[in-house]
Amino acid sequence: MKKFFITTPIYYVNDKPHIGHTYTTVAADILSRFYRNGASTFFLTGTDEHGTKVCQSAQKQEVEVKKFCDEVAQNYQKTWKALDVNYDFFVRTTDKYHEEFVKLILTRLKDNGFLYEGEYEGLYCEGCEEFKSEKDLVSGCCPIHKTFPIKLKEKVWFFKLAQFQDKIFSHLGKDFVVLPQKREAELTSFLKNEKLHDVAISRPRDRVEWGIDLPWDNNQVIYVWIDALFNYLSGPLSSRGFNFSNKHWEDILEALNDFWPADIQLIGKDILRFHAVIWPALLLALGLPLPKRLFVHGFFTINGEKISKSLNNAVNPVDLKKEFGLAALRYYLFRDFSFGEDGDVSLENLVERYNADLADNIGNLLSRSLTLVQKYGALKQKIEFKKDEDLENLFRNFKFKEALEKINLLAREKNQLIDKEKPWALIKEAHQGKEFAIENNSQIKFEKILISTLETLLIISYYLKPFLPLEAEKIETAIKNLEPEIVFPKILLEDTITKKQDINK
Ligand code: MSP
Repeated sequence: MKKFFITTPIYYVNDKPHIGHTYTTVAADILSRFYRNGASTFFLTGTDEHGTKVCQSAQKQEVEVKKFCDEVAQNYQKTWKALDVNYDFFVRTTDKYHEEFVKLILTRLKDNGFLYEGEYEGLYCEGCEEFKSEKDLVSGCCPIHKTFPIKLKEKVWFFKLAQFQDKIFSHLGKDFVVLPQKREAELTSFLKNEKLHDVAISRPRDRVEWGIDLPWDNNQVIYVWIDALFNYLSGPLSSRGFNFSNKHWEDILEALNDFWPADIQLIGKDILRFHAVIWPALLLALGLPLPKRLFVHGFFTINGEKISKSLNNAVNPVDLKKEFGLAALRYYLFRDFSFGEDGDVSLENLVERYNADLADNIGNLLSRSLTLVQKYGALKQKIEFKKDEDLENLFRNFKFKEALEKINLLAREKNQLIDKEKPWALIKEAHQGKEFAIENNSQIKFEKILISTLETLLIISYYLKPFLPLEAEKIETAIKNLEPEIVFPKILLEDTITKKQDINK
């Protein structure tokens, strides 16, 4: 049966996992935990390990390239584990399986006439070891090396991207939906107004040595982006141990049917064109369907600054977990920023948000209601759980912030009800009541308030679970056992502020 397939981009190993990567990956985790309730999901993530930049990073650290990749890939895996990210498969582009698969795919593209040999001409910065476009340059110079790039002409292989312009356009918004809407509009206008050019899919080996060989020309290495995009197909097949050597293309297509098309592909806005133009064209050339939904999220800055290696401000998510706890981190990223928009991360806001929503609102509601039950007697009615259609829809529409707002509203309403009705006074009244009628009335009211509060808390825990699996489980257990528990201990900002500054440096 076809799995509900969710992907993240695969992360370059020349960078350590930071809060930006965490955002995409935890979002995919939230979605896959949500959809797992009704379907069999497959959540794929991994690392993108080829290209000159990876080589350069390894050289800088004086480590052999593959060893360097192994270390960083492992670091990503450890980080996701620490952040409770429950992926189904971790794909690495240096895995033999992936490499063989990419070679097979490129051979097929060539055999079907979608590739041709040509010459690429461009402005090349020797310092960066990459081609620059005019808009990357400042007064004609590379802004990093302050040198003029040289004109370089090289023999490479091209993919006939231009011929897919109209085809992609005809799928956009139909079987291939790009969200949020403004991103789809951006693409529509791009495809309408600009002419697509064919794209180089290989590089000369003497310039880029760390990559997959072009199967029919070992002087050429496959362009890292083309190599990387195929992870979305090689990953699931590899997870099954599917052996494609000696198999026909039809067998591969059949095996892919269990996963592809992806139901949700998550990316940041920086890599939209690769995923919404080149990737669909490659899929169409192979006769494969396009991903159903491509969700494009915004970018984070930290205290107003871009996250960058040179500023050394890339907050390590595992440090944040140690400092503030995982719940605060996972919650904050989706509570304070509309999914799809840019946002500025501030650790002060992270603490405030956790305290206001989780400790003071939801946590407080849980402990005060269960304390009342514990103190004033057993409940006669059963606590029932019912799904909330509004919340279901918010999840299905990637409205994480709005879902968390709604969850908080539900808790706030019940806290207000308890403040207003004072169930502790009601029960005292009932216990002291001489007349049967008074006792009965107050008792019924007490019971009603607490049952409805605990039912709301069950809804809250159910929809918090994709965000905070551990804590949501604790809420459920506390309700089941009718034992008050402090699930969200308050974070005291004074205790963390010095460390917070260290982390921000
Ligand atoms: N390797 C490519 C992707 C290939 S997918 C076939 C790549 N890797 S990356 O490590 O540079 O970034 C991957 C993703 O990380 C971005 O698309 C985005 O989803 C996320 N982010 C990286 N920095 C980010 C922020 N500052 N803010 C939010 N997300 C960010 O591109």
